[in-house]
Amino acid sequence: MRAVDIIARKRDGLALTKDEIFWFVDAYTRDILPDYQAAAFLMAVFIRGMSREETVNLTLAMAHSGDVLDLSDMLGYAVDKHSSGGVGDKTTLVVLPLVASCGVPVAKMSGRGLGFSGGTIDKLESIAGYNVNLSDEEFRKLAKQNGIVLSGQSKELAPADGKFYALRDVTATVPCPPLIASSIMSKKIAAGANGIVLDVKTGRGAFMPTVESARELARIMVDIGADAGRDMIAVISDMNQPLGQAVGNALEVAEAIETLRGGGPADFRAHCLAVSGYMLRLAGQGKKWTDPAEVRALLETQLANGQAFGKFRQLVEAQGGDVRMVDDPVKLPQASIAESFNASRSGYIAQMDAQEVALAAFELGAGREKKGDPIDLAVGVKVHVKVGDQVQAGAPLLTIYANDPTKLPACRAHLERAIAYSDTPVDPLPLFYDTLYD
Ligand code: URA
Repeated sequence: MRAVDIIARKRDGLALTKDEIFWFVDAYTRDILPDYQAAAFLMAVFIRGMSREETVNLTLAMAHSGDVLDLSDMLGYAVDKHSSGGVGDKTTLVVLPLVASCGVPVAKMSGRGLGFSGGTIDKLESIAGYNVNLSDEEFRKLAKQNGIVLSGQSKELAPADGKFYALRDVTATVPCPPLIASSIMSKKIAAGANGIVLDVKTGRGAFMPTVESARELARIMVDIGADAGRDMIAVISDMNQPLGQAVGNALEVAEAIETLRGGGPADFRAHCLAVSGYMLRLAGQGKKWTDPAEVRALLETQLANGQAFGKFRQLVEAQGGDVRMVDDPVKLPQASIAESFNASRSGYIAQMDAQEVALAAFELGAGREKKGDPIDLAVGVKVHVKVGDQVQAGAPLLTIYANDPTKLPACRAHLERAIAYSDTPVDPLPLFYDTLYD
């Protein structure tokens, strides 16, 4: 086969065969093909699109470009979740121990943040000593021993995706549904889960700005998973405003702990209960956990009786983290400056733009511009109001947590842009827009 012929076929809008796709992905992963041919291929896919069959083949080719974990011998049925990336999205930190506390094993690999979007692995590193770099053997051992493990992605997991993603970033081919879907699903399939809940975000702080575009992406991913023999559920959730209150690594860990102890912001708690419920539904395989009200009651109980929190504590301890920080979150990294951002007028909150809030936290050092940049784990913002809330002029809307006072003006400028007021009542935003099944 010749790469140039495959590129030409896609350029001309023809469907690629399974063999062509597997050959191209394999040759590029092994550095046999140069970046310029892979870039041309990506642009041809971007412009011409891919059929369901081609997208499934691209996903499987990327999933099989490295190790494919098989946890079924140890765990029976494993469930996983994936978020398409949000602001204040610390859901994994709550959902994993909550589901594991119900006796369903969870073994997850998560990513780091890039740009304004945060990553679970960075958040976990707020806990001193927490080891995110586990060998395959350690990962499997902890999964079996505790029914819960949460690490960074091993280099051997879908290496083709790492190479393609870096190239997409610099060739303007990131926002392309078949490429996004195959990128996400290749990693999920390689990580060995049988059932996968996808949390596809939509809105101002999300990849997919409209509900329609999020639904389209979710549908492709659900279909890929189903064709690959996975049980799938996707939810379309709101990301116009941040989820919960905290945006910033250690602040988000503290909020997750508060939620695991039965408290936490109402929207974040409700979001976690819904995602956990879908994970249990998959794990029950139609035999158990089929009644949503019963599932909800079970999850509420696990939060109230300390079981979910206990599972988080066990996770942290098993991966070398300092459990004193979990027991007493004031021991997590703390910023030296806490400043209030107050309402400039009275009215109803009409907008709390998630992207602008994330950029405000980014200005303080909470995020990284490029891979490998250091981040400040302590800084970020806390949002005290939601869209629809009525506020008085001067009321504290947000708290800024900073370590460097020179960064405050840029942070405040983003917060000014984040907020819009209305003189008339504004409807609260929904948490979810849709649910898709395989
Ligand atoms: N997340 C991924 O892992 N890949 C994409 O292409 C987009 C978001």
